[in-house]
Amino acid sequence: MTAPFSAASVRAEFPIFRHHPDLVYLDNAATTHKPLAVLDAERHFYETANANVHRAAHRLGAAATDAFEGARHRIATHLNAAHVDEVLFTRGTTEAINLAANSWGRSQLRRGDVVLLSTLEHHANIVPWQLVAQEVGASVQAIPLDADGNLDLTAYHALLTSRVRLVGLTQCSNTTGVQPPLTEMISAAKQIGATVLIDGAQGIGHGGVDVQALGADFYAFSGHKVYAPTGIGVLWARRELLAQMPPWQGGGEMIERVSFAGTTFAEPPFRFEAGTPPIAQAIGLAAALNWLGEQDVSALMAHEIALRDRFEAGIAMLPDVHILSSHNSRGPISALRFDGIHPYDVAQFLDGYGVAVRVGQHCAGPLHQALGLDASLRVSFAAYNSEADVDTALAALAATLELLA
Ligand code: ALA
Repeated sequence: MTAPFSAASVRAEFPIFRHHPDLVYLDNAATTHKPLAVLDAERHFYETANANVHRAAHRLGAAATDAFEGARHRIATHLNAAHVDEVLFTRGTTEAINLAANSWGRSQLRRGDVVLLSTLEHHANIVPWQLVAQEVGASVQAIPLDADGNLDLTAYHALLTSRVRLVGLTQCSNTTGVQPPLTEMISAAKQIGATVLIDGAQGIGHGGVDVQALGADFYAFSGHKVYAPTGIGVLWARRELLAQMPPWQGGGEMIERVSFAGTTFAEPPFRFEAGTPPIAQAIGLAAALNWLGEQDVSALMAHEIALRDRFEAGIAMLPDVHILSSHNSRGPISALRFDGIHPYDVAQFLDGYGVAVRVGQHCAGPLHQALGLDASLRVSFAAYNSEADVDTALAALAATLELLA
Protein backbone atom coordinates (compact mmCIF):
# COMPACT_ATOMS: atom_id res chain seq x y z
CA MET A 1 0.00 0.00 0.00
CA THR A 2 1.57 3.31 -1.11
CA ALA A 3 1.21 6.15 1.39
CA PRO A 4 1.26 9.81 0.22
CA PHE A 5 4.88 11.02 0.31
CA SER A 6 5.90 13.02 3.38
CA ALA A 7 9.57 13.86 3.95
CA ALA A 8 8.90 14.31 7.69
CA SER A 9 7.34 10.84 8.00
CA VAL A 10 10.19 9.34 5.98
CA ARG A 11 12.77 11.08 8.20
CA ALA A 12 11.12 9.61 11.31
CA GLU A 13 11.90 6.13 9.97
CA PHE A 14 15.68 6.80 9.97
CA PRO A 15 17.20 6.28 13.46
CA ILE A 16 20.33 8.31 12.60
CA PHE A 17 18.25 11.48 13.00
CA ARG A 18 17.23 10.48 16.54
CA HIS A 19 20.92 10.43 17.43
CA HIS A 20 21.71 13.59 15.42
CA PRO A 21 18.48 15.61 15.41
CA ASP A 22 20.10 18.75 13.97
CA LEU A 23 22.10 17.00 11.27
CA VAL A 24 21.73 18.48 7.79
CA TYR A 25 22.96 15.53 5.78
CA LEU A 26 23.60 16.50 2.17
CA ASP A 27 26.16 13.79 1.34
CA ASN A 28 23.69 11.22 0.07
CA ALA A 29 25.59 10.55 -3.15
CA ALA A 30 28.39 9.17 -0.97
CA THR A 31 26.05 6.99 1.06
CA THR A 32 22.46 7.14 2.25
CA HIS A 33 21.19 6.45 5.75
CA LYS A 34 19.17 3.31 6.51
CA PRO A 35 15.53 3.09 7.56
CA LEU A 36 14.55 0.98 10.56
CA ALA A 37 12.99 -1.59 8.21
CA VAL A 38 16.44 -2.35 6.75
CA LEU A 39 18.18 -2.47 10.13
CA ASP A 40 15.40 -4.74 11.43
CA ALA A 41 15.67 -7.08 8.44
CA GLU A 42 19.40 -7.60 8.99
CA ARG A 43 18.97 -8.08 12.73
CA HIS A 44 16.04 -10.46 12.20
CA PHE A 45 18.17 -12.58 9.87
CA TYR A 46 21.02 -12.80 12.39
CA GLU A 47 18.61 -13.55 15.24
CA THR A 48 16.47 -16.15 13.49
CA ALA A 49 18.22 -17.71 10.49
CA ASN A 50 21.96 -17.05 10.59
CA ALA A 51 23.89 -19.76 8.75
CA ASN A 52 25.98 -20.04 5.64
CA VAL A 53 24.14 -20.43 2.34
CA HIS A 54 24.16 -23.26 -0.25
CA ARG A 55 26.28 -25.48 2.01
CA ALA A 56 24.60 -26.60 5.18
CA ALA A 57 22.69 -29.84 5.72
CA HIS A 58 20.69 -28.30 8.57
CA ARG A 59 17.49 -26.32 8.80
CA LEU A 60 19.11 -22.96 9.55
CA GLY A 61 21.21 -23.37 6.43
CA ALA A 62 18.04 -23.93 4.42
CA ALA A 63 16.37 -20.88 5.99
CA ALA A 64 19.42 -18.70 5.26
CA THR A 65 19.59 -19.96 1.67
CA ASP A 66 15.87 -19.28 1.16
CA ALA A 67 16.23 -15.73 2.52
CA PHE A 68 19.34 -15.04 0.43
CA GLU A 69 17.88 -16.41 -2.81
CA GLY A 70 14.61 -14.64 -1.99
CA ALA A 71 16.62 -11.40 -1.93
CA ARG A 72 18.00 -12.22 -5.39
CA HIS A 73 14.44 -12.67 -6.68
CA ARG A 74 13.37 -9.37 -5.11
CA ILE A 75 16.23 -7.56 -6.81
CA ALA A 76 15.54 -9.23 -10.17
CA THR A 77 11.94 -8.02 -9.93
CA HIS A 78 13.06 -4.50 -9.04
CA LEU A 79 15.35 -4.39 -12.09
CA ASN A 80 12.79 -6.15 -14.32
CA ALA A 81 15.47 -8.70 -15.20
CA ALA A 82 14.26 -11.41 -17.57
CA HIS A 83 15.93 -14.13 -15.46
CA VAL A 84 16.85 -14.24 -11.78
CA ASP A 85 20.24 -15.80 -12.60
CA GLU A 86 21.22 -12.55 -14.32
CA VAL A 87 21.64 -10.95 -10.87
CA LEU A 88 25.14 -11.37 -9.44
CA PHE A 89 25.89 -10.27 -5.90
CA THR A 90 29.04 -8.20 -5.39
CA ARG A 91 30.39 -5.93 -2.66
CA GLY A 92 29.26 -2.82 -4.53
CA THR A 93 29.39 -0.99 -7.86
CA THR A 94 33.19 -0.98 -7.88
CA GLU A 95 33.41 -4.75 -7.53
CA ALA A 96 30.59 -5.19 -10.05
CA ILE A 97 32.51 -3.23 -12.71
CA ASN A 98 35.75 -5.03 -11.81
CA LEU A 99 33.90 -8.31 -12.36
CA ALA A 100 32.72 -7.19 -15.81
CA ALA A 101 36.17 -5.88 -16.76
CA ASN A 102 38.08 -8.91 -15.46
CA SER A 103 35.75 -11.59 -16.76
CA TRP A 104 34.11 -10.19 -19.89
CA GLY A 105 36.85 -7.65 -20.67
CA ARG A 106 39.83 -9.95 -20.24
CA SER A 107 38.21 -12.73 -22.28
CA GLN A 108 36.73 -10.56 -25.05
CA LEU A 109 38.98 -7.53 -25.58
CA ARG A 110 41.84 -7.84 -28.05
CA ARG A 111 44.83 -5.74 -29.14
CA GLY A 112 43.61 -2.63 -31.01
CA ASP A 113 40.10 -2.69 -29.49
CA VAL A 114 38.69 0.48 -27.95
CA VAL A 115 36.86 0.92 -24.65
CA LEU A 116 34.86 4.14 -24.93
CA LEU A 117 34.00 5.82 -21.62
CA SER A 118 32.42 9.15 -20.83
CA THR A 119 34.27 12.02 -19.17
CA LEU A 120 31.55 11.98 -16.49
CA GLU A 121 32.60 8.56 -15.19
CA HIS A 122 33.56 7.74 -11.62
CA HIS A 123 37.03 6.18 -11.28
CA ALA A 124 35.27 2.84 -10.67
CA ASN A 125 34.15 2.87 -14.31
CA ILE A 126 37.56 3.95 -15.65
CA VAL A 127 40.38 2.25 -13.77
CA PRO A 128 39.21 -1.41 -14.11
CA TRP A 129 39.01 -0.89 -17.89
CA GLN A 130 42.44 0.79 -18.00
CA LEU A 131 43.98 -2.17 -16.16
CA VAL A 132 42.48 -4.74 -18.53
CA ALA A 133 43.11 -2.61 -21.65
CA GLN A 134 46.78 -2.29 -20.72
CA GLU A 135 47.05 -6.03 -20.31
CA VAL A 136 45.44 -6.97 -23.64
CA GLY A 137 46.70 -4.03 -25.74
CA ALA A 138 43.35 -2.26 -26.08
CA SER A 139 42.95 1.49 -25.59
CA VAL A 140 40.58 3.59 -23.50
CA GLN A 141 39.08 6.68 -25.12
CA ALA A 142 36.89 9.41 -23.59
CA ILE A 143 33.65 10.99 -24.79
CA PRO A 144 34.14 14.73 -24.15
CA LEU A 145 31.73 17.17 -22.50
CA ASP A 146 29.69 19.82 -24.25
CA ALA A 147 29.47 23.42 -22.98
CA ASP A 148 26.47 22.50 -20.81
CA GLY A 149 28.32 19.76 -18.90
CA ASN A 150 26.45 17.02 -20.77
CA LEU A 151 28.24 14.62 -23.10
CA ASP A 152 29.10 15.90 -26.57
CA LEU A 153 26.90 13.66 -28.70
CA THR A 154 28.43 14.74 -32.02
CA ALA A 155 31.83 13.70 -30.71
CA TYR A 156 30.32 10.47 -29.35
CA HIS A 157 28.92 9.45 -32.74
CA ALA A 158 32.28 10.24 -34.37
CA LEU A 159 34.13 8.13 -31.78
CA LEU A 160 31.84 5.12 -32.32
CA THR A 161 33.99 3.28 -34.84
CA SER A 162 34.04 -0.46 -35.51
CA ARG A 163 37.02 -0.75 -33.10
CA VAL A 164 34.82 0.15 -30.12
CA ARG A 165 33.99 -3.06 -28.21
CA LEU A 166 32.68 -1.58 -24.97
CA VAL A 167 30.85 1.65 -24.15
CA GLY A 168 30.72 2.57 -20.44
CA LEU A 169 28.30 5.28 -19.30
CA THR A 170 27.01 6.61 -16.03
CA GLN A 171 23.26 6.83 -15.54
CA CYS A 172 23.79 9.96 -13.43
CA SER A 173 27.06 11.80 -12.79
CA ASN A 174 28.06 11.51 -9.12
CA THR A 175 29.47 15.06 -9.33
CA THR A 176 27.13 17.23 -11.41
CA GLY A 177 24.09 14.95 -11.44
CA VAL A 178 23.97 15.11 -15.27
CA GLN A 179 21.97 12.23 -16.75
CA PRO A 180 23.26 11.45 -20.25
CA PRO A 181 20.66 10.51 -22.91
CA LEU A 182 21.15 6.77 -22.41
CA THR A 183 18.44 5.56 -24.80
CA GLU A 184 20.03 7.34 -27.77
CA MET A 185 23.58 6.50 -26.72
CA ILE A 186 22.94 2.81 -26.06
CA SER A 187 21.05 2.40 -29.32
CA ALA A 188 23.98 3.95 -31.28
CA ALA A 189 26.46 1.67 -29.48
CA LYS A 190 24.37 -1.41 -30.24
CA GLN A 191 24.23 -0.45 -33.93
CA ILE A 192 27.99 -0.90 -34.16
CA GLY A 193 27.86 -4.12 -32.13
CA ALA A 194 29.45 -2.74 -28.95
CA THR A 195 28.70 -4.12 -25.49
CA VAL A 196 27.34 -1.48 -23.10
CA LEU A 197 27.83 -1.15 -19.34
CA ILE A 198 25.80 1.36 -17.33
CA ASP A 199 27.02 2.54 -13.92
CA GLY A 200 23.79 2.87 -11.97
CA ALA A 201 25.36 3.83 -8.62
CA GLN A 202 23.66 7.23 -8.56
CA GLY A 203 20.69 6.25 -10.72
CA ILE A 204 19.34 3.31 -8.75
CA GLY A 205 18.01 5.45 -5.89
CA HIS A 206 16.58 8.19 -8.09
CA GLY A 207 14.33 6.57 -10.66
CA GLY A 208 15.92 3.14 -10.78
CA VAL A 209 16.01 1.09 -13.95
CA ASP A 210 14.16 -1.37 -16.16
CA VAL A 211 17.09 -3.33 -17.53
CA GLN A 212 15.08 -4.87 -20.36
CA ALA A 213 13.85 -1.47 -21.56
CA LEU A 214 17.31 0.09 -21.12
CA GLY A 215 18.87 -2.15 -23.77
CA ALA A 216 22.35 -2.28 -22.20
CA ASP A 217 24.31 -5.46 -21.43
CA PHE A 218 25.56 -4.74 -17.91
CA TYR A 219 24.08 -2.62 -15.12
CA ALA A 220 26.03 -2.11 -11.88
CA PHE A 221 24.90 -0.57 -8.60
CA SER A 222 25.54 -0.46 -4.84
CA GLY A 223 23.02 -1.09 -2.09
CA HIS A 224 24.27 1.65 0.20
CA LYS A 225 23.21 4.42 -2.22
CA VAL A 226 19.61 3.20 -2.04
CA TYR A 227 19.03 2.99 1.74
CA ALA A 228 20.56 -0.51 2.02
CA PRO A 229 23.68 -1.66 3.90
CA THR A 230 27.25 -1.21 2.72
CA GLY A 231 29.07 -4.28 1.39
CA ILE A 232 26.38 -5.34 -1.08
CA GLY A 233 26.04 -4.49 -4.76
CA VAL A 234 24.81 -6.06 -7.94
CA LEU A 235 26.03 -6.68 -11.43
CA TRP A 236 23.12 -7.44 -13.72
CA ALA A 237 24.20 -8.95 -17.04
CA ARG A 238 22.38 -10.54 -19.93
CA ARG A 239 22.16 -14.30 -19.61
CA GLU A 240 23.82 -14.87 -23.03
CA LEU A 241 26.83 -12.81 -21.96
CA LEU A 242 27.17 -14.53 -18.59
CA ALA A 243 27.08 -17.93 -20.24
CA GLN A 244 30.29 -17.07 -22.14
CA MET A 245 32.09 -15.35 -19.25
CA PRO A 246 34.85 -17.17 -17.33
CA PRO A 247 35.16 -16.96 -13.53
CA TRP A 248 37.19 -14.05 -12.17
CA GLN A 249 37.67 -15.14 -8.54
CA GLY A 250 38.23 -18.72 -7.44
CA GLY A 251 37.03 -20.41 -4.27
CA GLY A 252 34.13 -22.25 -2.73
CA GLU A 253 30.68 -22.43 -4.30
CA MET A 254 31.76 -21.18 -7.74
CA ILE A 255 32.81 -24.66 -8.81
CA GLU A 256 31.13 -27.72 -10.21
CA ARG A 257 33.93 -30.17 -9.41
CA VAL A 258 37.48 -29.60 -8.18
CA SER A 259 40.40 -31.94 -8.61
CA PHE A 260 44.13 -31.38 -8.97
CA ALA A 261 43.76 -32.56 -12.55
CA GLY A 262 41.41 -29.68 -13.29
CA THR A 263 38.32 -27.83 -12.10
CA THR A 264 34.97 -27.22 -13.73
CA PHE A 265 32.78 -24.29 -12.85
CA ALA A 266 29.21 -23.71 -11.71
CA GLU A 267 26.59 -22.03 -13.88
CA PRO A 268 25.85 -18.30 -13.40
CA PRO A 269 25.23 -16.64 -11.02
CA PHE A 270 27.27 -18.91 -8.69
CA ARG A 271 30.27 -19.04 -11.04
CA PHE A 272 30.83 -15.37 -10.16
CA GLU A 273 30.21 -15.58 -6.41
CA ALA A 274 33.26 -17.26 -4.86
CA GLY A 275 33.31 -17.60 -1.08
CA THR A 276 30.68 -16.77 1.51
CA PRO A 277 28.56 -13.98 0.04
CA PRO A 278 27.28 -10.88 1.91
CA ILE A 279 24.16 -12.72 3.12
CA ALA A 280 22.63 -10.32 5.65
CA GLN A 281 23.52 -7.39 3.38
CA ALA A 282 21.64 -8.95 0.44
CA ILE A 283 18.63 -9.41 2.71
CA GLY A 284 19.05 -5.77 3.78
CA LEU A 285 19.10 -4.69 0.14
CA ALA A 286 15.86 -6.56 -0.55
CA ALA A 287 14.34 -4.87 2.52
CA ALA A 288 15.47 -1.46 1.25
CA LEU A 289 13.82 -2.12 -2.13
CA ASN A 290 10.66 -3.22 -0.31
CA TRP A 291 10.80 -0.02 1.74
CA LEU A 292 11.24 2.07 -1.42
CA GLY A 293 8.41 0.15 -3.07
CA GLU A 294 6.10 1.27 -0.26
CA GLN A 295 6.81 4.94 -1.05
CA ASP A 296 5.19 7.09 -3.72
CA VAL A 297 8.38 7.01 -5.77
CA SER A 298 7.32 9.72 -8.27
CA ALA A 299 6.51 12.11 -5.42
CA LEU A 300 9.76 11.15 -3.66
CA MET A 301 11.80 11.95 -6.78
CA ALA A 302 9.93 15.21 -7.39
CA HIS A 303 10.65 16.16 -3.76
CA GLU A 304 14.40 15.57 -4.20
CA ILE A 305 14.51 17.59 -7.43
CA ALA A 306 12.49 20.42 -5.82
CA LEU A 307 15.08 20.53 -3.00
CA ARG A 308 17.92 20.73 -5.53
CA ASP A 309 16.13 23.54 -7.38
CA ARG A 310 15.45 25.44 -4.14
CA PHE A 311 19.14 25.08 -3.24
CA GLU A 312 20.30 26.26 -6.68
CA ALA A 313 17.89 29.24 -6.63
CA GLY A 314 19.50 30.23 -3.30
CA ILE A 315 23.00 29.77 -4.73
CA ALA A 316 22.16 32.16 -7.58
CA MET A 317 21.64 34.91 -4.96
CA LEU A 318 25.10 34.41 -3.36
CA PRO A 319 28.37 36.02 -4.54
CA ASP A 320 31.49 34.08 -5.62
CA VAL A 321 29.79 30.70 -6.09
CA HIS A 322 28.83 28.88 -9.30
CA ILE A 323 27.00 25.66 -10.13
CA LEU A 324 29.10 23.34 -12.33
CA SER A 325 26.28 22.26 -14.61
CA SER A 326 22.74 23.51 -14.99
CA HIS A 327 21.90 20.96 -17.67
CA ASN A 328 18.16 20.26 -17.59
CA SER A 329 18.40 16.49 -17.13
CA ARG A 330 20.06 16.03 -13.75
CA GLY A 331 19.54 13.98 -10.62
CA PRO A 332 19.27 15.56 -7.15
CA ILE A 333 22.95 16.52 -7.02
CA SER A 334 24.58 19.93 -7.33
CA ALA A 335 28.31 20.69 -7.48
CA LEU A 336 29.78 24.12 -6.79
CA ARG A 337 32.97 26.06 -7.41
CA PHE A 338 34.02 29.28 -5.71
CA ASP A 339 35.91 32.38 -6.85
CA GLY A 340 39.13 32.69 -4.85
CA ILE A 341 38.05 30.33 -2.05
CA HIS A 342 39.02 26.68 -1.75
CA PRO A 343 36.04 24.32 -1.48
CA TYR A 344 37.80 22.45 1.37
CA ASP A 345 37.68 25.60 3.50
CA VAL A 346 33.98 26.04 2.76
CA ALA A 347 33.22 22.40 3.65
CA GLN A 348 35.05 22.73 6.97
CA PHE A 349 32.97 25.75 7.92
CA LEU A 350 29.75 24.03 6.81
CA ASP A 351 30.59 21.07 9.04
CA GLY A 352 30.86 23.56 11.91
CA TYR A 353 27.24 24.53 11.17
CA GLY A 354 26.21 20.85 11.14
CA VAL A 355 25.92 20.66 7.35
CA ALA A 356 27.52 17.54 5.82
CA VAL A 357 28.67 17.84 2.20
CA ARG A 358 31.40 16.23 0.10
CA VAL A 359 34.43 18.10 -1.18
CA GLY A 360 37.27 17.14 -3.52
CA GLN A 361 37.10 15.38 -6.86
CA HIS A 362 34.50 12.81 -5.76
CA CYS A 363 36.48 10.06 -7.58
CA ALA A 364 35.81 11.90 -10.84
CA GLY A 365 39.29 13.21 -11.68
CA PRO A 366 38.87 13.35 -15.49
CA LEU A 367 35.65 15.38 -15.12
CA HIS A 368 37.39 17.90 -12.87
CA GLN A 369 40.34 18.07 -15.30
CA ALA A 370 37.92 18.76 -18.16
CA LEU A 371 36.32 21.56 -16.14
CA GLY A 372 39.73 23.00 -15.17
CA LEU A 373 39.12 22.46 -11.44
CA ASP A 374 41.17 20.81 -8.75
CA ALA A 375 38.13 20.32 -6.50
CA SER A 376 34.44 21.10 -6.11
CA LEU A 377 31.90 21.00 -3.31
CA ARG A 378 28.94 18.70 -3.76
CA VAL A 379 25.50 18.59 -2.15
CA SER A 380 23.21 15.64 -2.80
CA PHE A 381 19.65 15.06 -1.64
CA ALA A 382 17.64 12.07 -0.45
CA ALA A 383 14.04 11.37 0.53
CA TYR A 384 14.50 12.42 4.17
CA ASN A 385 15.89 15.89 3.38
CA SER A 386 13.62 18.89 3.89
CA GLU A 387 13.24 22.48 2.76
CA ALA A 388 14.57 23.44 6.20
CA ASP A 389 17.76 21.47 5.42
CA VAL A 390 18.20 23.49 2.23
CA ASP A 391 17.60 26.79 4.00
CA THR A 392 20.03 25.90 6.80
CA ALA A 393 22.68 24.94 4.23
CA LEU A 394 22.16 28.19 2.29
CA ALA A 395 22.36 30.32 5.44
CA ALA A 396 25.53 28.47 6.51
CA LEU A 397 27.01 28.93 3.05
CA ALA A 398 26.19 32.66 3.02
CA ALA A 399 27.82 33.12 6.45
CA THR A 400 30.85 31.07 5.38
CA LEU A 401 31.37 33.06 2.17
CA GLU A 402 31.17 36.31 4.09
CA LEU A 403 33.81 35.05 6.53
CA LEU A 404 36.15 33.71 3.85
CA ALA A 405 35.76 36.45 1.22
N1 ALA B 1 31.04 7.20 -5.08
C1 ALA B 1 30.67 7.88 -3.89
C2 ALA B 1 30.57 9.36 -4.11
O1 ALA B 1 30.40 9.79 -5.19
C3 ALA B 1 31.53 7.52 -2.76
O2 ALA B 1 30.66 10.13 -3.18
